[in-house]
Amino acid sequence: MFEKSAASDKKRWEARMTVKHLLVHKGRDVWTIDPDATVLEALAKMAEKDVGSLVVMDGERLVGIITERHYSRNIILKGKTSPTTLVREIMESNVIHVRADQSVELCMALMTEKRVRHLPVIEDTKVIGLVSIGDLLKFIISKKEFAIDQLEHYIQGGIAA
Ligand SMILES: NC(=O)c1ccc[n+]([C@@H]2O[C@H](COP(=O)([O-])OP(=O)(O)OC[C@H]3O[C@@H](n4cnc5c(N)ncnc54)[C@H](O)[C@@H]3O)[C@@H](O)[C@H]2O)c1
Repeated sequence: MFEKSAASDKKRWEARMTVKHLLVHKGRDVWTIDPDATVLEALAKMAEKDVGSLVVMDGERLVGIITERHYSRNIILKGKTSPTTLVREIMESNVIHVRADQSVELCMALMTEKRVRHLPVIEDTKVIGLVSIGDLLKFIISKKEFAIDQLEHYIQGGIAA
């Protein structure tokens, strides 16, 4: 009985934690690239910024996302080279994204279901952040002690009652 209510409380906690909370920890920098840049330029920028993805922007408009995976699957294996291939040729243009008010739980579900590791965060039409699978894990682990404290509190409260 107590275990059941503690578990459902944990579920509610997970659902309450939003992308906005995560961005407070992670920051709102978004690294971008032009669709007409070469894949080599994209790789150089990923290395310089130490990130595994770049949001592809045509001016102010989000048009795609390119990740290390797009590179590893679409260049050498398809007989192309990174200096002669444009970002637009290998990027994903159907970008799975989230809003800041959506839950961390939803991000996990989306990443699992859609098999993506990076989710741009969109507000109106603007990209205001980016969440990676590593960010989600880091955030959840950092909150884990708090969740355990909460569970202990409820269990002890239940035993005392
Ligand atoms: N998430 C982190 O804080 C972090 C930091 C350094 C290294 N790593 C390690 O790197 C590996 C993959 O990590 P990952 O899943 O976080 O992916 P990743 O390597 O793409 O992301 C690393 C960090 O860069 C950020 N990032 C990625 N693309 C970005 C972009 N276009 N604009 C702004 N920020 C961007 C992510 O949000 C994350 O904070 C894991 O082994 C992880 O342990 C993670």
